[in-house]
Amino acid sequence: MSTDIRKSSKKRKSEQADQDSETDQKSSSSRNSSSSTIPTEKPTPFPNASTTDKNSRTLPIIPENPYDHIRHCIVQNDGTHENLIRLIGLKSLFAKQLPKMPKDYIVRLVFDRRHKSLAVLSDDALHKGGDDEIIGGICYRPYEEMRFAEIAFCAVNGMHQVKGYGTKLMNLLKRHAVTEGIDYFITYADNYAIGYFKKQGFTKVITMPKSRYHGLIKDYDGANMMECYIHPSIDYTRIPEMVAAQRAFILQQIRTVSKSDKVVYPPLGNNWKPDDSATYASSSRGNEAAARAMAIPGILEAGWALQDLLASTKAAKDSDRKKNHLKSELLGIVRKTEDQQFTWPFREPVDTAEVKDYLEIIKDPIDLATIEKRIEKGDWYKSKQMLYTDLMRMVENCKMYNDQTSPYYECAVSLEKYLDSLFPELQ
Ligand code: ACO
Repeated sequence: MSTDIRKSSKKRKSEQADQDSETDQKSSSSRNSSSSTIPTEKPTPFPNASTTDKNSRTLPIIPENPYDHIRHCIVQNDGTHENLIRLIGLKSLFAKQLPKMPKDYIVRLVFDRRHKSLAVLSDDALHKGGDDEIIGGICYRPYEEMRFAEIAFCAVNGMHQVKGYGTKLMNLLKRHAVTEGIDYFITYADNYAIGYFKKQGFTKVITMPKSRYHGLIKDYDGANMMECYIHPSIDYTRIPEMVAAQRAFILQQIRTVSKSDKVVYPPLGNNWKPDDSATYASSSRGNEAAARAMAIPGILEAGWALQDLLASTKAAKDSDRKKNHLKSELLGIVRKTEDQQFTWPFREPVDTAEVKDYLEIIKDPIDLATIEKRIEKGDWYKSKQMLYTDLMRMVENCKMYNDQTSPYYECAVSLEKYLDSLFPELQ
């Protein structure tokens, strides 16, 4: 390989820029940006801890951004020795973590000059230049004109999974994507990785107009198309700080209209008992705790009513607990069902723009995404039986619309059998 890697001055320049990028992430000295590296310099809106304003008031301490300590880079097959070594490392990582993906396909995409990869790198000098230097990576193909990118592979080294690197990878890529003018990520997620992508803001509902990606990206069997919108003014590596700043702002606004931080009541003594107030005296036994709380000086003045407090009593909590239990049981059933290979035709609503006569034949359409939304909403399904009815309607709709020899019909038969095994008590 070394004979292929002839270093032109242009290549040397790009390698140098890449090295600069890594060094920059370790120190906060002056930076040299390069098209192949992620700009780590941000027009941060946060002053640093020691900053004081003109009136010598100390400004709030802003925590360091943990992303500043991660070494990362964008790698592309530009022929440079360093990038080729990293691409080999990425290829090995993807091949190991995505064993079902054909190896030649991984090699083709990772080394394809239209694809780029973001790699998070270990700081351990022992690993420098080796496969283990790469903690995780995402290989993607930007479609600049259509302002979206398709994520082809995403993986974290087995030793480092479930430590937050997957989230960091995605957040760094989102921050970088903004600099490339990308509005959306599209990916085909493995069934097992759907949960991870959901946590990174991906949804199965595709809002990007189809005309933007139609004909550009391939369809994969057994994978779910997911999308993530990237807001250009959000720095995804600073979400906690952004939320804290918003919270502080809201609290500040509340303080302008609320007296809660201005009127301070004396502490209740150890032997405090409620006055024989009308509220307390008229309370039934069940309402006693709430009525007792209402008698605490300041509660009434702060705008609380007995009903508010009753809502947090044991009975209300028990009913919430039951609802939550049912919700998670139903969600578990639907997600398990979604994971079955034969449920691919049922995962999203039938596209009635494409299947024009569908609604003439099927009067009550239903699909797994709709069912999941209903469960998430909370009050739709009051029992497992109700969920079973909807799932079976999906089977019946599919059998009614499709020919018995079609793969769709076969999937409906498999799903029906599967549902029988999931709900034995309802047979
Ligand atoms: N299913 C459900 N949730 C998950 C999964 C999963 N497979 N993996 C991680 N999560 C959750 C974590 O619990 C965590 O949740 P929390 O924020 O509530 O704590 C959150 O996602 C982020 O977890 P991280 O620790 O940041 O994720 P990690 O570093 O483990 O990376 C990844 C996730 C990339 C999926 C990794 O596990 C991996 O490499 N797996 C094998 C390869 C793979 O499946 N890649 C995706 C294939 S699809 C594609 O490439 C387009």
